[in-house]
Amino acid sequence: MQTPATPAPRDHWSSRLGFVLAAAGSAIGLGNLWKFPYITWDNRGGAFVLVYLGCIAAVGLPIMMAEILIGRKTQTSVVGAFKQALGPRWRVVGGLGVATGWILLGYYTVVAGWTLSYLARCLRWSFTGYPSGYDPGGAFGSLVADGPVQLVLSAAFMVLTVAVVYSGIGRGIERVSRVLMPALFGILLMLLVTALSMDGAGEALGFIFRPSFSELSWDGTLEALGHSFFTLSLGMGAMLTYGSYLRRGESVVRAATWVVALDTLIALIATVTMFSVIFSVAGMTDHVGRSTAGMLFISLPELFYTAVPFGAILAPLFYLLVAFAALTSTISMLEVAVSYWIDERGVSRRRATLLSGAGIFVITALCGLSLGAWGPLSSFTVFGEKAGLFATLDHLVANWLLPLGGLAITLAAGWFLTREATRAELVDGSQPRWFRYGLWRFFIRYVSPLAVAAIILAVIFFGRDFS
Ligand code: TRP
Repeated sequence: MQTPATPAPRDHWSSRLGFVLAAAGSAIGLGNLWKFPYITWDNRGGAFVLVYLGCIAAVGLPIMMAEILIGRKTQTSVVGAFKQALGPRWRVVGGLGVATGWILLGYYTVVAGWTLSYLARCLRWSFTGYPSGYDPGGAFGSLVADGPVQLVLSAAFMVLTVAVVYSGIGRGIERVSRVLMPALFGILLMLLVTALSMDGAGEALGFIFRPSFSELSWDGTLEALGHSFFTLSLGMGAMLTYGSYLRRGESVVRAATWVVALDTLIALIATVTMFSVIFSVAGMTDHVGRSTAGMLFISLPELFYTAVPFGAILAPLFYLLVAFAALTSTISMLEVAVSYWIDERGVSRRRATLLSGAGIFVITALCGLSLGAWGPLSSFTVFGEKAGLFATLDHLVANWLLPLGGLAITLAAGWFLTREATRAELVDGSQPRWFRYGLWRFFIRYVSPLAVAAIILAVIFFGRDFS
């Protein structure tokens, strides 16, 4: 590991738009298209959605600003950033972020791989027609339990991720995001317009936007809180790392607000779209009710070919969209690990990317085999009923690592960095007129840490599960 004599100048996003598209790409992922719709379903819509929006505004947005500001201020990877901004002991927090990135990317790639399989299936069905007598639940079950197929799919996805990060920030991540994100918005709008023309649209809108607070539970509230974290890619330094490639002079407040707004908009549009389709088909609500988590891979494919107008065209486009969304998220997770090797260890980007990708793929392979293909990996339990490596790691990340990382970040930004330091980053002349520094400071010091602590306490003392 040699440190280059004259370090190359730091790569940067070419503009704020470049940053916003890449960071929104990180935020918009399977969390928006797969998880948000099904937890909204499980929590009976309306009131849950409202609470979720509140959590995004009161907890997500301030922490997003905190991460980006620490990154932009220090211009270095998550480990170096904490060290530089707060002192050597804070390296641990950065290290936790890198470790979380490894684990999260490890299992997220498995699900991302499934999107490739469904893309291929839909492309086939669009030509041959949806097979009669096809059992979607059974087919999904055999897909996940098929070891070799899991390895091939997740390896393919990892190769895509590595290929993007290998080319760097401006020429890799930003360039890909500039193509994939508009494509994603375009496809989603097409789907939305089609779904709104279906009979169930009115009922779907009512379900999602008409709150009935009697249906909201404490668990639902905490779930909304936990999800607002996950969906915004907060708590492990992904946004901090992307922020470290932001030039001074680009407003942290504006950038953060855009990312949060886009992520929220996409989650809502995806949910309106899916529910409009589901409410349009008689009996479908009961069917979905049995396996809400399977909505994306079990209920939806069939609906495209039996109920949705132009479904044969839209189905492959939809899975392409999901794959794009997953890819722009996986690259941000890998970048956290890669930037650590580059900035702290002086390794070249190419080498860091290949080595991290290969190392993380070991976790991915084991996770892929832990859904039935390999008995011992699939059945052990650490956390209650969570059986197997995949479920265990997901639980560890969503319930422990991200909230702990998030708590550290709010405390760092609210209590350990000085008022002058954070103020200089947020109020630098480029901030929007509506921004009030004092309000941000109040939220990051009191509201965000208490909210995040509530998640951690609920997990520790009440055995709650948010994964
Ligand atoms: N936000 C992504 C999603 O909704 C997941 C994700 C990407 C993420 N990068 C992250 C979550 C970093 C936490 C930390 O799918």
